[in-house]
Amino acid sequence: MIRVAIAGGSGYAGGELLRLLLAHPDAEVAQVTSERLAGKFAHRTHPNLRGLTRLRYVPLGELSSCDVLFSCLPHGASARHIDAFLANAERVVDLGADFRLGDADEYERFYGQPHPRPGLLGRFVYGIPELNREALRRASLVACAGCNATVSILALRPLFAEQVAKSVVIEVKVGSSEAGNRASDASHHPERSGAMRSYKPTGHRHLAEIRAVLDGMGAARAGAEGAVAERVGAERVVAAGPSRTGAGPSVRAPACDIHFSATAVEMVRGILATCHVFLREDLDEKALWRIYRRACADEPFVRIVKERTGIHRYPDPKLLAGSNYCDIGFEKDPHAQRVVVMAAIDNLMKGAAGQAVQAFNIMHGLPERRGLEFPGLHPA
Ligand SMILES: NC(=O)c1ccc[n+]([C@@H]2O[C@H](COP(=O)([O-])OP(=O)(O)OC[C@H]3O[C@@H](n4cnc5c(N)ncnc54)[C@H](OP(=O)(O)O)[C@@H]3O)[C@@H](O)[C@H]2O)c1
Repeated sequence: MIRVAIAGGSGYAGGELLRLLLAHPDAEVAQVTSERLAGKFAHRTHPNLRGLTRLRYVPLGELSSCDVLFSCLPHGASARHIDAFLANAERVVDLGADFRLGDADEYERFYGQPHPRPGLLGRFVYGIPELNREALRRASLVACAGCNATVSILALRPLFAEQVAKSVVIEVKVGSSEAGNRASDASHHPERSGAMRSYKPTGHRHLAEIRAVLDGMGAARAGAEGAVAERVGAERVVAAGPSRTGAGPSVRAPACDIHFSATAVEMVRGILATCHVFLREDLDEKALWRIYRRACADEPFVRIVKERTGIHRYPDPKLLAGSNYCDIGFEKDPHAQRVVVMAAIDNLMKGAAGQAVQAFNIMHGLPERRGLEFPGLHPA
């Protein structure tokens, strides 16, 4: 059994991870933390787990040694506690944003605060298995991707790998659980219920990850120079730019214009990304099918959803709640050099806890689908 602990287990991502790991045949959950609820049963915050665990929350200071420490703390907090995590665990998987970027300046630009531990940037493997499977096999430090970044990158990866995109505008529609379990003015029921609110038309933090990854793929395919190409190309371990320590890859001009907007909609779980991709050359549907089939055929959790008839012709996040799938569809605009790519995930699964467990499986040489077999519900 692999002994695991969850820091920040009382939140939504931590709760989902606890649900998955309690049912995982190779994992034993030793500890789960909350500062606010130390001493209370975990099922108090995760009532779906009632009867499945008698674990009580402990504060971070009482974490003891384990094989894998999953951190579900907010950005900033993971980095502040990373030394204690590394002292306690052989492997650390961070679901937060602190170690996703390789560039401390980029982190400060997008997160509005200096990086607490810039020296560690670039040592984490970016946790999207479809990009970094080989690197994950050898990884002891993993930074899971942001949920919006995950769905956007999985949607666009096939086109960027072929370097056929000239520019892209991504619009994501997101559910309320993406904001975590802490109440705010914006999440107050009369304000949030029924909302269709543009909350980040520009400047979303996940844009930094999306650009780093997709630009990196272009650079690698183009045989770009030096460390950037080697690093991104060999492992596709994605980091945005130079860390202050010099550990990360160097900055270069983006190969393709990438823009991102986010809208909050009436949904608890789920993200639907609609990506308007303007192509360098006109491709027909057959060519697009070939590109997507080639990229997705062997992926256990990526499905192409594109039907001619019926009500479920394209990806729908409602059908994915609780599952680890990313569904991807596309339609070529017959009147323009544009393809619209649609992709859906459950933000708490493929966008957080499911991705972390998939990475955990790969890190331990386990079948990738272990503990992640749930297909979702229909009707839901
Ligand atoms: N929600 C999503 O869809 C999603 C998707 C991908 C990644 N993530 C990332 O996963 C992490 C957790 O997100 P979430 O949505 O689960 O948030 P959340 O529901 O607000 O939970 C946050 C957790 O962190 C703990 N915590 C908060 N501030 C802390 C501090 N200063 N020191 C120690 N513990 C602290 C909380 O514990 P207490 O009980 O003590 O408050 C709670 O367990 C974030 O980094 C987020 O960006 C979230």
